[in-house]
Parts: sequence; structure tokens; C-alpha cells
Amino acid sequence: MNTLLKQIATLDDSRPTYILTSNAALQELKQLSKSGKAFAAATSEKKINTFSLVDQGRLVVMTICPDAKPLGKQLELLRREASAAVAIFKSYKASDVQFVATDVSEAQAAASIEGFVLTNYEFVKYVTRDQEKKSSPIKELHVLDTSLSQAAFAETSNLLKAVCLTRTLVNEPLSYLTAVQLAEDIQVAGKTFGFDVTVFDKAKIEELKMGGLLSVNLGSFTPPTFSILEHKPKNATNKQPLVLVGKGVVYDTGGLSLKPTANSMDFMKCDMGGAAVTIGIVAAAAANKLPLHIIGLVPSTDNRPGNNAYVPGDVITMHSGHTVEVMNTDAEGRLLLADALSYAKQYDPELVFDFATLTGAAARAIGPHGIAMMSTADRMQTEAVANSGQETYERVVEFPLWEEYGKMLKSDIADMRNLGGASAGAITAGKFLEHYTDYPWMHFDIAPVTYFHAPDAYKVKYGTGTGVRLIYHFLKNYSSVA
Ligand code: BES
Ligand code: ZN
Ligand code: ZN
Repeated sequence: MNTLLKQIATLDDSRPTYILTSNAALQELKQLSKSGKAFAAATSEKKINTFSLVDQGRLVVMTICPDAKPLGKQLELLRREASAAVAIFKSYKASDVQFVATDVSEAQAAASIEGFVLTNYEFVKYVTRDQEKKSSPIKELHVLDTSLSQAAFAETSNLLKAVCLTRTLVNEPLSYLTAVQLAEDIQVAGKTFGFDVTVFDKAKIEELKMGGLLSVNLGSFTPPTFSILEHKPKNATNKQPLVLVGKGVVYDTGGLSLKPTANSMDFMKCDMGGAAVTIGIVAAAAANKLPLHIIGLVPSTDNRPGNNAYVPGDVITMHSGHTVEVMNTDAEGRLLLADALSYAKQYDPELVFDFATLTGAAARAIGPHGIAMMSTADRMQTEAVANSGQETYERVVEFPLWEEYGKMLKSDIADMRNLGGASAGAITAGKFLEHYTDYPWMHFDIAPVTYFHAPDAYKVKYGTGTGVRLIYHFLKNYSSVA
């Protein structure tokens, strides 16, 4: 996270200031002069929610909390208004900004901070020239302690650090982030956020007979890894663990079925987005000490032709013992996810989630505004995730897992093929995975939302981190009812 967040007890008269207030409290604002208030009132009359003024020599950006229902919609507007505020502060080259919220709820103040920090996020690790031009001037956000409690501030701060970690992992190219490096980065994150990590190397993966992961890895020069993340607090309210599985394809060329669509390979460093979301969720849960036993599983490799690459027509024996006829080496994610899903059975999990940039079909079906979700979990949990989607605005849309779709995966010579028909590509991928589960399970095809080619307010260009806030919100509720 490139914005240093800290809580302060008093405002500094000279520092650029971001004020979030209700319209009703505008006239009582201690931080503004009389003429400042008059200007603010006149501007908000014009239905402009976010605007700047120079008041007593100090740059002030204000957001008048918009009325909108339901709450999720309003919180999203606040993130977007905060994003507009960042653009204003940047244009003034502000470096340290202080934030004060009056007459709004903690959730509203937190949404503003989210919008601010996520908009100011940047990935400039590899920039060695024109640093200033490429880097945001805003380095710190100081939050006045009357805006939200210490606990809520710490929670927001940890969650944002986790989202930014997820984004950065997605943004890292293969030249840095190989499967082996991903496992090392997970170990570093474990130390930073406070969760345990075990990494299986290729020998162990062979011993476990993870045929899906090993086959995808055959074309690679780098060995595969299988990382296990664990957050196991003493006060866990769940009897059996929750397991999160993330697709960790650090680069997807398509393998020998080389990606056929022009330019579609350009951004395939994002194909470990599911792994990055899994890591972000465990990190947020651990840092915020959620009273839940959570396990993350990250199978990882790159997918490319070369070496002894697997070929269309191959038959693979999976970790579960099932056989798969490979029809297309670009449908690789489901192979390594299937191994991880079958590995998850030993935990007798209460609920399993998987996250994967799995299909272009999901992206074509819903565009960049939602996650394609499929579920065998009970309706209450499925609805709870959908509700978390509305509140965090990381929305999910449920696709069916009707048995007819399963028939599209029939093979004559093995138990299943790794490819469905011409239609319903996101669903047949989900059906493939379902085969390897025997517990309540939700599948999230995050291909639509993981990587943006153009910015959308606080969802800046490239890795978005979408999925972390969604599932953290769900888990927090789950921990209080589990
Ligand atoms: N990694 C891709 C899916 C993807 C597409 C991710 C767009 C992010 C953005 C996946 O491995 C893949 O190649 N899927 C194929 C499946 C097909 C061969 C059945 C696809 O979607 O075309
Ligand atoms: Zn692929
Ligand atoms: Zn892929």
C-alpha cells in the first residue's frame, strides 16, 4: 500500500484536508470559516457532491454525503466521490492529506477511506525514469480519530493493505513472479499479516499424485508449488475449517493450444488472480484476528508450450484418481484447481470457496461489473455472499449448475474431458470443478473483474483486488453467526 494511513487526535491547520459531512451538519463544521461554509452550501445546492475550496489558506476538498439507497449503493458512491477527491489533491500536488468525517456512520467514513487509498494505489516498482511523473504525490492519509473508532480504523487499514497486496501480486510479471516466487511471497505475507504457511515442492506434489498441476507444469522450466495458508485462532467459532482455493497460474500462454485471440496473452500474468485473492483474504482475516479457522490452498505453475508440455489428447490421472482427457491445454486452470479441491476433502471443511480467472466466457457474459458464481452451498450462505456483494459492490451473479451442463464434459476414453461445448463455457468449467467436491462449495469465476485495461474510479488500471473485500465482509458476518 503506497498510502501511509494513520490516526490522529487533532487536525493540523496547514495540511490539505478532506472533509466528509452530511448536508445537515454542514453549517456546524468547525473546520470551515463562515465564507467557506457559504461556498460549500451554495455548491452542494448545485448537486455537486465533491468540490474543493481554499479556506483560510488551506486546501479543502469536501464530499457532501449523497443520499442513496440501499446502503451498498451509497457506500459505493462514497468510494467514487473519494476517488474524485484524490484527483483534486493530486492536481494540487498535495503530499499529506488529513481526513475528517462528521455526522456520518463508521461504514460511510470507512468507504471514503477505501475509495481514497485504493485510488491512490500504484504499481511503480519497475519505474526507474520519470519517477515523479508516474508516481502519486500523495503519500499519507491522516484520519481524525473522531471519524471512526480505533478498532474500525485498524480493520479498514488492514483490509486495504490486503487488497493492495492482492493487486500487486496480480501486477507482478512472470519475470519476477514465478510459481516458486509466489510461494516465497506467500511466506513473506504470512509473517507480515500473521498466518502460517507450508509450501509443497515438486517432489511432494509428485508424492501426492497431483496429476492436474503436474501436467500443466510439464511445459515449464520452473517447478510447480502448492502453498497452504492457515489462520487458526483459539477462539474460532467454526467447528470445521473454511477452505479457500485460488488458481495460481502465474502465466497462461494457453500451452500448446496457444491462445488464439489477438492480444489475449498480453495480460495473462493476471492468471494467478484467484491465488492473489485467496492470499488477500487470509491476510485480512489474520491481521484482523477474525475468529474463524481458515485454510488457503494455492496450486501454482505457469502454462506454456516447450519442454515436455502436455498435449491435446493426453489422459491425466488426477489427485482424486479420476482421469481427464485433455482437449485443450488452455483449459488448464480447472486441472490444478481440481487437484486442490480434492486435496481439500481431508479437512472435512464446513464450506469451500474457489477463486479463479477461469473463463473468457464469464467475462463475455457479464462484462467487468460482476463475478460469476456457482454454488452447491446452502441457500442461506449463497444469499449471504450475494448480500456482501451488494454492500462491498463486488457483486456476484449466480449461474446454474444444472446437470445437463455436466453431460457436455463426457469423454469416450476417460472419466471426463477438460472442455465443454461451444456454449456455457463458464458453467461447464464450474461443472468440471464440482466433480472434485463433496462438501458445500462456491465457485467464483473472477475473470471479468481481476484485471482492468482502463481505470474505473478507485478500481485503478490493471490488478483490481476484487474479491477480497467481498469475502472479508462475508467472513466477518459468518464469524458472528457460525
Ligand atoms: N486464463 C484463461 C481465462 C481468462 C480469460 C482469464 C480472460 C482472464 C481473462 C483460461 O485459462 C482460459 O484460457 N480459458 C479458456 C477456456 C477454453 C479453452 C475452454 C477460455 O476462456 O477461452
Ligand atoms: Zn488457459
Ligand atoms: Zn488460465
